[in-house]
Amino acid sequence: MAAVVLEQLNKIYPNSSHAIIDLDLDIIDGEFLVLVGPSGCGKSTALRMIAGLEDISSGVLRIGDRVVNDLAPKDRDIAMVFQNYALYPHMTVAQNIAFALKLAGRPKAEINERVQHAAQTLQLEPWLDRKPGQLSGGQRQRVAMGRAIVRDPAVFLMDEPLSNLDAKLRVQMRAVVARLQRDLKTTTVYVTHDQVEAMTMGDRVAVLRDGRLLQVDAPETLYERPADLFVAAFIGSPAMNLLDVGLEQNGDQLEAVLNAGRLIVPPAVLAARPGLLAYAGGRVVVGIRPEHLHDPAIGSDHGPARIRGVVELRESLGAVIDLHLRVHAKPAVTTETRQAAGDIELLERQAQVGESVVVATVDSRSKARVGETVELVVDTERAHFFDPETGQAIWD
Ligand SMILES: Nc1ncnc2c1ncn2[C@@H]1O[C@H](COP(=O)(O)OP(=O)(O)O)[C@@H](O)[C@H]1O
Ligand SMILES: [Mg+2]
Repeated sequence: MAAVVLEQLNKIYPNSSHAIIDLDLDIIDGEFLVLVGPSGCGKSTALRMIAGLEDISSGVLRIGDRVVNDLAPKDRDIAMVFQNYALYPHMTVAQNIAFALKLAGRPKAEINERVQHAAQTLQLEPWLDRKPGQLSGGQRQRVAMGRAIVRDPAVFLMDEPLSNLDAKLRVQMRAVVARLQRDLKTTTVYVTHDQVEAMTMGDRVAVLRDGRLLQVDAPETLYERPADLFVAAFIGSPAMNLLDVGLEQNGDQLEAVLNAGRLIVPPAVLAARPGLLAYAGGRVVVGIRPEHLHDPAIGSDHGPARIRGVVELRESLGAVIDLHLRVHAKPAVTTETRQAAGDIELLERQAQVGESVVVATVDSRSKARVGETVELVVDTERAHFFDPETGQAIWD
């Protein structure tokens, strides 16, 4: 076991692409750290630098108490698991799992014992004599994990190991990998582009964008206190609603003005975010999570803040309903929201006409129907605020 420390790490590829920029990351001994971000943000590059598969352009990398910048991959005491498993097709499961140990010249009895133990841990015992071609995707994935764990490394490095599995299996394997890591307590750096995977598996989650680390925190903290618009837009499903609003001072209170309504900034929010006062008379991005919009017909103790819109879509998920509301309010269009958006053109068109689609996750008893105009209660105590220029959350 070992801590992994990245200090001011940079990667500039020979074609001048600056893939990792001043990356500082302290991965605690025994921790499950997830690196998440959109495709091309530098996740694999960062992981491959830790593994020793890419040169470090500048900065210091420590594993345990050693600086390993110039150490060959085989001397770093790491094991890597890739998306494509990289199993040897002509070898049996047992031989695949044993391969690295054999290469290291371990005694036969020890190899057998370790392979048996790994197979037991990963429920692979019935398949030890099969070839990878005879296995399901999930079984192949477990063999790849087995190859990593028999080596008992100080650090596991995993690059999108579940991406090739179908959705249901992926959810099951998340739990398998997370439990395995918790049992072994081996420091793990896990790369994924899937924010749900990141949030469900990581002790902490590091969000990368364009080679830069935006925030690293426990999943709940990332969700409840996103430091930045990109993190806010990227983490959470359905995504946080992000609106471009005017902020007006009215006596000693602040009001966020949308065409679809006015939202008073609650005193507790203003106390926690005194920096908002500097934006009075200007514009901010207000963020509202879908679950912080309620149907006032259900339950009673709701505040006065409302947002009005026409129901465009009603998605019943059983336990809850997602209502898609067309509202007169400008969506926030910034570099961050554009990057997080599924459909940039749609976002820009909506901004032009001053209309947004706001998603509300409401109680399954809601009677709101498609085509109806409804007013939903906004839990403004839970609202987020961001600077539209810098994308930074507004606090002090
Ligand atoms: N071998 C390479 N040579 C030049 N550029 C590269 C190379 N590998 C990756 N890149 C670039 O570095 C950036 C980060 O890539 P990568 O680490 O693969 O991202 P991710 O794993 O997050 O999708 C991208 O812009 C990519 O095009
Ligand atoms: Mg990658």
